[in-house]
This record gives sequence, structure tokens and C-alpha cells, in this order.
Amino acid sequence: MSKVTNKWSIKKLAGHCGARLEGVSLANASLSQLEEMRSALFKYGVIVMPGQNLSPENHISLAEFFGEIDVNRFFTPVPSHPVIAEVRTTPDQAEVIGGTWHTDHSYDEAPAMCSILNAKELPPFGGDTHFASMAAAYKSLTPGLQNMLKRLRAWHSDSSFENSNVGINPKKTAFRDPTLHPVIIKHPNTGVPCVYVNGDFTTNFENWSFEESAPLLSYLYAVITKPVFTARVVWEPGMVAIWDNRLVQHYATADYPGHTRLMHRITVAGVPLEGI
Ligand SMILES: [Fe+2]
Repeated sequence: MSKVTNKWSIKKLAGHCGARLEGVSLANASLSQLEEMRSALFKYGVIVMPGQNLSPENHISLAEFFGEIDVNRFFTPVPSHPVIAEVRTTPDQAEVIGGTWHTDHSYDEAPAMCSILNAKELPPFGGDTHFASMAAAYKSLTPGLQNMLKRLRAWHSDSSFENSNVGINPKKTAFRDPTLHPVIIKHPNTGVPCVYVNGDFTTNFENWSFEESAPLLSYLYAVITKPVFTARVVWEPGMVAIWDNRLVQHYATADYPGHTRLMHRITVAGVPLEGI
């Protein structure tokens, strides 16, 4: 456990997103320490805090600092604490939950603001999570493309869970109608413009067919996941990571066949997203 001090020590993980916060125990943090952590989340997009070893109760309390818990309707709940979702990879599983670039819950009308992952069981190697800054990606686009994208909205759907092969078996009643979000959103807390389309859940632009949408979406996915915009989180036992689903996308690396990986995840409710 890190030594408890008054201030977080904050070190950036990469140029455009990610920071490592140490020096405060989340289970005993003061309101000002939690507020400082939240500011870091909105600045860096993803924050990792090693050595926290949070209990499920600590995990829930941390989530409630940010807001109401948004229980995922597709994932298996932790039996003793059903507001926590289990993100589990078994040794015989070739694909993993989140093994493509995506934004958690973008298929919802008010998508989750952040996700809080608590490492419970890690493979002996691999299983890193990559994050990419959607603010840096937006900034890199030309004014011509920025201006066109600002006028567009896109449909997001949970239908990709229908044929999922990652150990989740959603009920038919879990699925909802697709929802529209601006392609460029204004971050609800900071106002920063961010690209908001992702390969798992975005299907097409509003009033565009799937075929018409595919080339531009493919181009955007290639740009927004360029390594230069990313940070790589190497998990450690007891580490907690929190990411802002409006500011970053993420990708779970499925490179530990034959091993188990178990994470506990809570998602926190967000707000409907506005364009800029
Ligand atoms: Fe995810």
C-alpha cells in the first residue's frame, strides 16, 4: 500500500492521455483528494492507481463519489455485489471482452461517464489495456473535416452483443433501440471537443446508409487509434484504473491464452451528449 500523504503524486503515462496517481489510499481518501483525482481524470482521460487493493465495498463507494452506478445489462454480475460487473477471461477463451477499440455504453441515450476497473486476478504476462485520446484525435483532423463532422450525428447500437463470443449471454430483453449521438461531442465537464464514434457500437451516420458511412468511419477509426494518441496500461496486482468514456476509447489486449484474468468493473451514469 502506498504511504498515505496529503497530495497525489501525478505522473503522465504518455503525451496525450493517461496518468499514474500515487500517494493516497482511495479507501481513506478525503473529499479534496477525491476531487483532485476527478480533475486528473477529466484532464488525462485515464488514471491508474497502483496498490489500492479495493474491496467490493470500497469499489462501490468510489463509484458513488462520481455519481449513480449504471449497471451494465450485458455482463455477468459479481454474485455478492450485483452492481459490479465481472470482466473475466478463462484459460480456454480466445477472445476477450473489449478486445477491440470501443467506448463503454455508447449505445445508451446517456452513456456512462466513466468506468472503474479493479484488478482481481492477472495473467502472468500480457492483458494490458490501451487507451486513445479522442480530444487529441479531433485536434489532428483538418478544419475541413472537423467542420463536416461537427454537423453529423451517428447511430450507436448494442446489436454487436448478439453474436458475442466472449463469455456473455445477454437476454433478448437487454437489447434496446439504437441511439443517436453527435460525431463530435463537447465534453460535458470541460467543453473539450472529442470524436465520438467507435468500431464496436457505431453503425452509420444519420441519414447515411451503412455502405455510405463505412469508408469515412473506417478512416476515422484508423486516425483515432494511431499509436501517437495512445497510452498503454500495464496492470499490477491491486491496481485501479478509471477512464472517462467521453475523452478516451480503450482496447483490451487478448495476448495471454491459457491464463485467467478477472477484473471487477463499475460504470457510472453519464448525461446525454451534446455537439459543439
Ligand atoms: Fe470496455
